[in-house]
Order: sequence, then structure tokens, then C-alpha cells
Amino acid sequence: MNALPQHVGIIMDGNGRWAARRQLGRVEGHRAGAEAVRRTIRAAREIGLSTLTLYAFSAQNWARPVAEVAHLMELLSTFLRDERDELALRGIRLVTIGDESRLAPPIRDLLDIVKRMTCGNRELTLCLALSYGGREAIVAAARALARAVAGGMDPDAIDAAMFEEMLDTCALPPLELIIRTSGELRLSNFLLWEAAYAELYFTEVPWPDFGRRELDAALAAFAQRRRRFGLTEEPAIRSPAARAGP
Ligand code: IPE
Ligand code: IPE
Ligand code: MG
Repeated sequence: MNALPQHVGIIMDGNGRWAARRQLGRVEGHRAGAEAVRRTIRAAREIGLSTLTLYAFSAQNWARPVAEVAHLMELLSTFLRDERDELALRGIRLVTIGDESRLAPPIRDLLDIVKRMTCGNRELTLCLALSYGGREAIVAAARALARAVAGGMDPDAIDAAMFEEMLDTCALPPLELIIRTSGELRLSNFLLWEAAYAELYFTEVPWPDFGRRELDAALAAFAQRRRRFGLTEEPAIRSPAARAGP
């Protein structure tokens, strides 16, 4: 049995299909999805997760129809305005990853306020991936290192640990579980570097129907996984002292 994952990431997919099945517009699906966000944060806090990253808007989602993007941004503003006191009260710290410079200034201001209001909280870190792309994050890190090399750093000094420090997830615990809702079996540019040894959990449940029960099921599956990190299950070389005994 594995303990609770230190860091869970969720690809919240399927709002549009959920709505289409009910003959509703995509907007209604996103609204129901926002309710699932609230439920899932509450569940994560109750369960005692340390860090939850929600993939809310990808770098590629900017290419969706203008009206849909505007609606998603409106839902984000509403979420931040409605939930800030609740987050502060429940000990939840808000952080974000992604290219915030593409967000509208009022949303950036709101994010700054909520991040500042909650920065001392320790119960749960809620990380919103906004205008986020895993490839874009890796390119930004490569660019930062290229600048350091242009400034005189030895390229041979670059290793995985240094690369990781350039990613905006560097202050978060290692990603151990990725959940994707609604049946698609892909990462869609989510935390590509961080996913290296994360366990993957896919469910057919569309995001608007996700909640405590589905999160519990994903955590139960994680608890049963045999994580090897490239090693064998038995220690390959054991000292004679370790081999001796009953
Ligand atoms: C997830 O639901 C929300 C975002 C990607 C912002 P979708 O909008 O992708 O819904 P489907 O996948 O079309 O059903
Ligand atoms: C991934 O879902 C992005 C988010 C959940 C924010 P998409 O719906 O954008 O991904 P694809 O298009 O199915 O790969
Ligand atoms: Mg989708």
C-alpha cells in the first residue's frame, strides 16, 4: 500500500460532452465543471492531500472560439471572487503555473490578491494551471538556462536537478498521481516533465460528475500501484549482514 500521493494533478476534461449529452450548450458544461472544482477542492482538503494541481486552461485552449474562452475566464473570475474567503478560512494556499502574462489584467490582479491572502496557509496547496503548457514550460526553462550559459555558466553544469529548478513547479512536491476524466487516454501537454514517474489514472466519468467518490477511487487505485522507478522490486545487491537472519 502506498501512502497518499504527495501531489495529485487532474486533467479536468469532458465538460462539453457532458453538456452535449444533456442537449445543453458547452457553457452549461463549464458551469457544472466549476461546481466539480469546488467539490473536489473540498474533498482534497478533507482527505488531507498536500498538493492538488488542476489543469484549468491550457496554452492551446486559447485557440477555442472567442466566446468560449471569454466564458471560461468569467468562470475563473467568479470562482476567485466567490471562493477567496473560503480558501483563506480553510487553510488553502493558492498558487498558479502557466503563462499569466496572457491573462487579462483584472484576472491577474484577482489572482495576486487571492495568492497574497492565502500565502501563509498550510492545509492544502491548490495549484491552478492557467494558460499552461508542459512543452511551453520546458522551453521557458531551456531559455533561462541558455541565458545563464550566455552569461558564462558551464553547459556541463546543467543536470536534471538544475533543469527542474527552472520549472514553475519547482516549489511543489513531486507529482505522484495524474487523474484524467472523461475517457481520453492522453496528457494533452499537462506537466510533461513532472509526469516522468507519476502514476496515471483514467476514468470515464466526465469532469462535471467528479467528486469525493471518484477522488477516493483514484487514491485507492494509487495505493495499490507497485512503483519501481526503474529499480527491481527486491534489492539487487544485499550486504551479507542483510542476507543473514531468519
Ligand atoms: C474541459 O472540458 C474544460 C477545458 C478544457 C477548459 P472540455 O471543454 O475540453 O470538454 P470536452 O472535452 O469538449 O467534452
Ligand atoms: C486538456 O483538455 C486541457 C484541460 C483540461 C484544461 P483538452 O480538452 O483541451 O484536451 P484535448 O484537446 O482533448 O487533447
Ligand atoms: Mg476536452
